[in-house]
Amino acid sequence: MPFAIPVKALIVIGLLTFCFSLTRAAAGEEGPIAPAALRCEYLINPLGIDVQLPRLFWIPRHPGRGQAQTAYQVIVSTVPSCEKGDAWDSGKVPSAAFTHVVYKGKSLASDGRYYWKVRYWDKDGQESPYSAVASFGTGLLTKGDWQGSWIGGANQLRKEFDVPGSVVRATAYVCGLGYHELRINGRKAGSNVLDPGWTTYDTRALYVAHDVTSMLKAGANAVGVMLGDGWFKGKALLFQLNIELAGGKTMSVVSDATWKAMSGPVVEDSVYNGETYDARLEMPGWDEPGFADKGWTKAAAVAGPRGVLSAQMMPPIRVMDTLVPLKMTTPRPDVYVFDMGQNASGWARLRVTGARGAAVKLRFAELLYSDGMINQENLRSARAQDVYILKGEGEEAWEPRFTYHGFRYVEVTGFPGVPTADSIRGRVVHSSVRQAGSFAASKPVLNGIQRIVTWGQKTNLHSIPTDCNQRDERMGWMGDAQGTAEEALMNFDMAAFYTNFIRDIRDVQDAAGTITDTVPHIWGSRPADPAWGTAYPLLCWYMYRYCGDTRILEEQYPGLKKYVEFLRSKAENGLLLKYSYYGDWVAVDKTPGAIVSSFYYYYDVKILSDIAQVLGNAAEAKAYAKLAEDIKAAFHKEYFDPKTGNYANGSQTANALALFLELAPDDARGAAWGNLFDNLAYKNASHLTTGIIGTKYIMEVLTRFGNSDLAYDVATQTTYPSWGYMIENGATTLWELWQRREGPSMNSHNHPMFGSVGVWFYKALAGINLDPQVAAFEKIRLEPQMVRDLMFASGAVDTIRGRVVSAWRREDRSLAMEAVVPVGSEAEIVLPKFNLRNIVLSEGGKVVWADKKYVSGAEGVRGVEETASALVIKAGSGRYVFELRGE
Ligand code: BGC
Repeated sequence: MPFAIPVKALIVIGLLTFCFSLTRAAAGEEGPIAPAALRCEYLINPLGIDVQLPRLFWIPRHPGRGQAQTAYQVIVSTVPSCEKGDAWDSGKVPSAAFTHVVYKGKSLASDGRYYWKVRYWDKDGQESPYSAVASFGTGLLTKGDWQGSWIGGANQLRKEFDVPGSVVRATAYVCGLGYHELRINGRKAGSNVLDPGWTTYDTRALYVAHDVTSMLKAGANAVGVMLGDGWFKGKALLFQLNIELAGGKTMSVVSDATWKAMSGPVVEDSVYNGETYDARLEMPGWDEPGFADKGWTKAAAVAGPRGVLSAQMMPPIRVMDTLVPLKMTTPRPDVYVFDMGQNASGWARLRVTGARGAAVKLRFAELLYSDGMINQENLRSARAQDVYILKGEGEEAWEPRFTYHGFRYVEVTGFPGVPTADSIRGRVVHSSVRQAGSFAASKPVLNGIQRIVTWGQKTNLHSIPTDCNQRDERMGWMGDAQGTAEEALMNFDMAAFYTNFIRDIRDVQDAAGTITDTVPHIWGSRPADPAWGTAYPLLCWYMYRYCGDTRILEEQYPGLKKYVEFLRSKAENGLLLKYSYYGDWVAVDKTPGAIVSSFYYYYDVKILSDIAQVLGNAAEAKAYAKLAEDIKAAFHKEYFDPKTGNYANGSQTANALALFLELAPDDARGAAWGNLFDNLAYKNASHLTTGIIGTKYIMEVLTRFGNSDLAYDVATQTTYPSWGYMIENGATTLWELWQRREGPSMNSHNHPMFGSVGVWFYKALAGINLDPQVAAFEKIRLEPQMVRDLMFASGAVDTIRGRVVSAWRREDRSLAMEAVVPVGSEAEIVLPKFNLRNIVLSEGGKVVWADKKYVSGAEGVRGVEETASALVIKAGSGRYVFELRGE
């Protein structure tokens, strides 16, 4: 059935310029009924799956509306053509599930390769064709599958080997710490950089799987591995290459004492300080067969990390973008400064021609002094400097391997001659999470904020969520991670990334249940500040709410319970009265730390109770709900002052926290709200004085209390303190502080933690909301806040169940709204009436509401109801263009 758009709808679409361009590619809109976007454990065609019962995901596409899957059939095969389900043929399973479908076939073998496809039946029993074939590979599932031993002794290791026949399949499994680069027959394997991800190595180290089938040949082959210090601060390699030959024979090449070692051209490497590369020490051919490795020594046996080995099952770090410098200046003779125009994580690629032994020094900075020289003061002890020593053989191109910097500016000295604009490129490096969301609105400052939020967020995804990308930290500070998690879940495909990070958190938990401020734990305390430690329950909960992941809840429930019980052991009079280090961190107006800690104590207990409920553990759900009620009562008693109507000191944060979790009982709510409103609207002229904690909740509180206009005033400020103020002062990523500072103090210019406003853009302005009860966008509430002078806004999010779009544009007496609802989901779409009379609502030219009555007939629309201020449309899956007109 081709999908035809009525003429009238086309006119409306014309108005929705922004929205249209966003959603043209929306899944489920065009083409025949088909399942698409097949994923295993959240990843597309992953290798190295190390769970015994992986979960499969797909997205049913359907050109019709109001559609749903009623049954599916999954075929999993060991043969690429995937005709028969020799591993699993589910048969026709009556089920609406197309996410988290647990593999139920034959038990998976180590180092296996599986091919799978799926078909589904729609609500009318119509059967889709099979999807295209996807694949996944299992890793080395047991310790005994690893045959090699840990080796090291130098930063380059090599091994030649013979392949007696043609190669059918070859997979390399590498744990090269701290960082490694795998090379086979003269070429780098894959496009990952800075592998493997950073973990608590003595608890869990990650190995990376590469399909290297096409890199091998019959006869002589060679493998070379370069090692860098990374966060492991040492060098150790465990390697295994499993090869299947034509005819079914298999062989393995593993790290052992037969490997050779030699120090190569990377003469120094450090995450913070940078890399020094002496190209004169290159040994061409070292990673190829037939290389004369005289002078190389036997690889040394080294102690590997003590932890388990687990596969890296999240998007690897990659070079994601290349920046062309905006300009080059010469603030002093022979000092060249390149402006990349964007603060990012990564490094520079250098192109240079010159004499052997000439050393080009590259220094990285976020800031410039007024004389145009780079300002590295705020990097503290991080040297952020790369050095390239030329071999002197014509044009040389180089980029480092085992470091990264946070920078906008690159200073080049020691350059032979004068560099040109082509001498330097900026390489943007971060975890390769897919962009999942987009947001745009008619107010330019909002688009500017969206830009600095998303640049700040993605460039701080470096296998873990980092606090910053430039100074001597770049750590998994948990407060920063929890503060921005919802924003990240809307903007990026974070499911696999957070699945790994939640394991990282569990890895640091001790017997007493405590976790740490940073994960992996380097800085900060154990036990973590409660507002930081809450990342553990909150991230688990968000993975359930946004992605419907109950496995994470099951796996983490014991750890979460231990954590909550630890908090309980610290409670006095039901609250955390003396347990806080950072509280509402970097606020303009301080809030007592204890109220922040107590708020999170309540929140964590509440979440644990909700998780117990989801897992069907009614007894513990009840017990923790009771504990939560007790904390709630204690909170109000301790912090509410009936004379002033304030919580604690009446800061914006204190009152917002009480309102956000409904800790204020009915008779106190009005007073606390009134005080918050006055403080914000009058005392501070619509400016926040909150730190990262208050900022996360206050915008949503304003919207919930029917004051999105005020939230919008706050969001669109351009004077201190505001996001717009950062932009006015040249920010290209979010700052750490509301204040503008550039000295040696704590003032990173790429710190994502104030980016929580990003989720408010989607929820309030675009209006994309999760149902409060039903997880993962199976039920959706599209309720845009059409505030003040905002004339349009649009948001599109590729959720786990498919794309959701909410885009609107209003005119004087009319409103057009585009909504996309995934197959199998339902939406409630709330359109404001703007005090208009004689409202007519149509969809694609068909009237669905007139004379104050619902008019049936538009496909997929299930009803329209009227409230005091809005029309509420109920709709099934599909793409809709509504038009509301009135007088
Ligand atoms: C980090 C923060 C972190 C904080 C803890 C800082 O040094 O950069 O983002 O959350 O310490 O208070």
